Amino acid sequence: MPDPVSGKAGTPSDADSNSDTRSDTRSDTRSDTTTDTTLVDAQAKILACDDLDALKTVEREFVGKQGVVAQLLASISDYPPEQRRGVGQRANALKQAVQEAVHNRQQTLAEARVAAERQGEGFDASLPPPRPRRGSLHPLTQVTRELEDLFQSMGYTVLDGPEIETDYYNFEALNIHADHPARDSHDTFFCEGDGHLVMRTHTSPVQIRALETLKPPLRVVVPGKVFRHESTDASHDHTFHQMEGLVVDRNISVAHLVGAMKTLLRGIFDRDLEVRLRPGYFPFVEPGFELDARCPFCQEGCRVCKRTRWIELLPCGLVHPNVLRAGGLDPDEWGGFAFGLGLSRLVMLRHNIDDVRHLLGGDVRFLEQF
Ligand code: PHE
Repeated sequence: MPDPVSGKAGTPSDADSNSDTRSDTRSDTRSDTTTDTTLVDAQAKILACDDLDALKTVEREFVGKQGVVAQLLASISDYPPEQRRGVGQRANALKQAVQEAVHNRQQTLAEARVAAERQGEGFDASLPPPRPRRGSLHPLTQVTRELEDLFQSMGYTVLDGPEIETDYYNFEALNIHADHPARDSHDTFFCEGDGHLVMRTHTSPVQIRALETLKPPLRVVVPGKVFRHESTDASHDHTFHQMEGLVVDRNISVAHLVGAMKTLLRGIFDRDLEVRLRPGYFPFVEPGFELDARCPFCQEGCRVCKRTRWIELLPCGLVHPNVLRAGGLDPDEWGGFAFGLGLSRLVMLRHNIDDVRHLLGGDVRFLEQF
């Protein structure tokens, strides 16, 4: 707190402030004794307070806006100039002493109140103390971490990639050329500018980034957010989560793909599930499939599998030679498989959630259930 006097009196040199101090001790006995007796008076009143309201009143009387200290400070100009600094200092010291006494009394009163409550009838020492409310991991984070662990145990590396991608990585290098009809199905958000930057519509661009940075043989998974410019409904949101998988090695066949997917299913649903492949078209895989799994929730058809006994699990396929070339590999030497697991869909299946928009809606009442 600035000294209210020093601004006016100024302390241009040590000599000046020394002479100030000397004059204080010499002649300013009036405010000196006043502040001493005021403090004694305040302390007595503070100690006499039996509750916080009374204490507040006494506090106001001495250190409030119109209180004794404030008045003393306001009257500084009535003192001869050489005494003003000393008066100001004593007023501030008084203020501090009073505040300290009030604080001490507050604590004593609070402790006394707790002690009194302990004696009272309502006190039960065996009740657990109130605990801080604990948050929980988002269900998407839970599934992501579980799958990361699972894939890491199978020798995969977890990779990350940018959410804003270039046209090259999101489309071109994935064998989706400028006029390719597959671009229409991607409902792309374009960033401002010449359309060269997009919000990635899938995690597949990280396939190319992985091929560029890692040496084959390689196994990677890439969890992350993707974006689609489409009208939202119970099963569509503009932002959702996928997990890309890419394996590149020599002599890779569809059997490897099916084997890996069966292991994935065992990890997710804790048991072996039959799978089937249907043809699916994605320009960056050849052949491309939609992989379905036996419905884990029923024997004879239910709402989740729409009575078909199959649930659509993920699109996948063998890596297209053009993708390997874009990544600088010779398709005669290397092959691979890739899959695009819908994490949002998986979370919905697992927890029986009927609207994908809950996932990123941010409603705590939803999130508290996990
Ligand atoms: N990236 C594709 C999509 O989001 C899914 C996919 C991934 C298909 C990998 C095949 C292989 O539609």
